[in-house]
Amino acid sequence: MEEVKIYLSEKEMPREWYNVLPDLPEPLSPPIHPGTGKPVGPEDLAPIFPMELIKQEVSQERWIGIPDELIDIYKMWRPSPLQRAIHLERFLKTPARIYFKNESVSAAGSHKPNTAVAQAYYNKKAGVKRLATETGAGQWGSALSFACNLFGLECTVYMVKVSYEQKPYRKFLMQTWGGKVYSSPTNLTNAGKAVLKKDPNSPGSLGIAISEAVEDAAAHEDTKYALGSVLNHVVLHQTIVGLETQKQLKIAGEQADILIGCVGGGSNFGGFAVPFLSEKLKGRDIKIIGVEPTSCPTLTKGPFRYDFGDIAKMTPLLMMYTLGHSFVPPAIHAGGLRYHGAAPIVSNLVNQKIFEAVAYPQNSVFEAAIMFAKTEGIIPAPETAHAIRCAIDEAIKCRETKEEKCIVFNFSGHGHFDMVSYDKYLSGKLEDYVLPEDKIKEALSELPDIKI
Ligand SMILES: Cc1ncc(COP(=O)(O)O)c(C=O)c1O
Repeated sequence: MEEVKIYLSEKEMPREWYNVLPDLPEPLSPPIHPGTGKPVGPEDLAPIFPMELIKQEVSQERWIGIPDELIDIYKMWRPSPLQRAIHLERFLKTPARIYFKNESVSAAGSHKPNTAVAQAYYNKKAGVKRLATETGAGQWGSALSFACNLFGLECTVYMVKVSYEQKPYRKFLMQTWGGKVYSSPTNLTNAGKAVLKKDPNSPGSLGIAISEAVEDAAAHEDTKYALGSVLNHVVLHQTIVGLETQKQLKIAGEQADILIGCVGGGSNFGGFAVPFLSEKLKGRDIKIIGVEPTSCPTLTKGPFRYDFGDIAKMTPLLMMYTLGHSFVPPAIHAGGLRYHGAAPIVSNLVNQKIFEAVAYPQNSVFEAAIMFAKTEGIIPAPETAHAIRCAIDEAIKCRETKEEKCIVFNFSGHGHFDMVSYDKYLSGKLEDYVLPEDKIKEALSELPDIKI
């Protein structure tokens, strides 16, 4: 009988993160200063990030050492298991082998602590007292509250209003670890006030919450900003996921044919997939698929161009797939996938057709989530269920073609705090939403025209 769970010992845990920047066939376009329209320098980012993270953001070193103190903390939940979904395979009657990398085993229940603890560590070393951040689904806010507590930092979380209302238990989790949580948009920042003036019932969005957190950090000397996705250093920290997966597949005697991850800002998908880039560039036939919701179809419907990361235009402009910084996605339940942009690294690789992207409506995503919960037992986060939907569809294709492919997806988080959305699905109250083309056009009409 083959092993179902493939574990690494703590000694086998990677000691370095993989930086994909020097290996990108087409280099990233530089971030642009929102005020000057010129490429940003390290000094421009210094008010909101500590220098070590700024260095990682632009580093051309392929391998970046993980400090021993962080290795000790990673050992609280890492290495995470790679698990074969044999019960799902049998249910689907597929000849494909399906594996999932289980990142739900962290304290916060997702991949987010992989970067949260690293960001808290470098901020603490730089003498910072407080971190301000946004959270969509509540996973990132939980992860940062957890990490700040470990390093004795205060943590302020601007939580997107729809999630704040749908997920009170995520809020309690953050508060348990010492985080201060506000429903965004708030009346505490100029950015929040401006949104509320236009629309007092705004459901909030990640773009709005980011503006609030960045403003908070810029206005306070002892405070910096932490972002849970999108940026290069976040993808860098998440590469521990893909690096472990590679070692585990080797132990299982497998080579992945298809790699799948859900995409909000792109950090779990990016960190899971980029370590496999060199195999793909050497000509091995691997399909690498990012999965997003049809209600926020950044990679599948957005153009690839410069845009702000937030609604108040405070962040640098990044070259990425975007639906426009003013775009407020509909309140679907996968709150963590409601972001108008996508990581420049992931966008770059999709633009070069090295990575692919697909989009699914939420009812088919929940159908997959329930199928997974009933066969493998674990209840996935709605975000993660996007990856599961795609893995199931690929496995069904294999059943039809009789191909014995190896499908590996990243199980980015569990859904224990998402049961209200399961209830809505089970009682037939979830609506599918496909973003109309004119809504996309409207949001894109506000995009800045950057020429460098
Ligand atoms: C469980 C889970 N998966 C995925 C995501 C999407 O983020 P990213 O694309 O950065 O991995 C989130 C975001 O909150 C999340 O909570």
